[in-house]
Amino acid sequence: MAPGVGDKAAWAPRIAKGMDALYHTAINGSTVNPVMMPRGGSPLKDSELKAVVDHMVAQSK
Ligand code: HEM
Repeated sequence: MAPGVGDKAAWAPRIAKGMDALYHTAINGSTVNPVMMPRGGSPLKDSELKAVVDHMVAQSK
C-alpha cells in the first residue's frame, strides 16, 4: 500500500488534512489515484476502516 506506513514525510501532509479526510478516502477511495479503491478493496465496515486508519496514522507520525 502507498503511502507506506511509517513513512513520516509521506504521511505528514496527509495527517495535516485531518482524520475525517483520511477516513473519507479510506471509505470512498481516492479521486487522485484509483488504485486506492473504496475500502481499499476490503470488506471492512466503516468502524473497522477507521480503526485501521487510526493505526496507520499512529505508526506514521
Ligand atoms: C483496508 C485497506 C486500506 C486502507 C485502510 C487504506 C487507507 C489509506 C489512507 C488513509 C490513505 C491516505 C488518503 C489521503 O491522503 O486522503 C491511502 C492512500 C493510498 N492508498 Fe490506501 N488503504 C488501503 C488499501 C490500499 C490498497 C490495497 C492499495 C493498493 C493496492 C492502496 C493504495 C493507496 C494509494 C496509491 C494511496 C495514495 C492515494 C492518493 O494520493 O490519493 N491502499 N490509503
